Amino acid sequence: MSPVTLRAVRENPTVRDYLARTDRCMVSMGYTEHGERHARIVAEWARAILVRLGRRGREAELAAIAGYLHDIGNLVNRENHALTGSAIARDILDRMGMPPGEVADVMSAIGHHQEENGEPMSGISAALILADKIDVHRGRVRKSNQMDFDTHDRVNFAARRSVVRVSPKRRAIRYELRIDTRLSKVMEYFEIFMSRMVIARRAAAFLGCTLEIVINDTRIL
Ligand SMILES: [Fe+2]
Ligand SMILES: [Fe+2]
Repeated sequence: MSPVTLRAVRENPTVRDYLARTDRCMVSMGYTEHGERHARIVAEWARAILVRLGRRGREAELAAIAGYLHDIGNLVNRENHALTGSAIARDILDRMGMPPGEVADVMSAIGHHQEENGEPMSGISAALILADKIDVHRGRVRKSNQMDFDTHDRVNFAARRSVVRVSPKRRAIRYELRIDTRLSKVMEYFEIFMSRMVIARRAAAFLGCTLEIVINDTRIL
């Protein structure tokens, strides 16, 4: 049997259905976008981070798969979604014929992606954490009335651009953000994202890199 690829996972009817339902759950709870867009971006970045660091092949593909499925547990509940998500991923990947060792790697990465109780424990897991925590963007805000925005919405809405760059030479992973400070102060970004930055920093360290953060062309970490 040929190895399970990100492409096959994206095209899997159960994955499509579950991701769409996940996003609908998040809409009804007033959360930012957690559907196909977020899944795709995290998958692509997780893969790119490992490839740029020279860790190609199966590890990078598994990071992409973990990235694509990482938030699918929100279908059950936001609470403990990393754990439910890893069990959902196991069922799906098992049925797709992925070998148990690879399923286990994906499960651990998904189970450890949240800053509250996660810990980078493999290259796949570290890449997933780094890709997930940088995805701040106005496209994730679904409320149409700015009067209804909470701080999360405001920061996401103010984020014009957020990218991750990897410098293999300097062993540096850099988050670059452009924030419209008329809509949200840089301080608000820190209020919300400090705990995410802490786990992202540990993830970078796991990959033998330092984490740098640049907001509006100013290096702040
Ligand atoms: Fe999550
Ligand atoms: Fe996420």
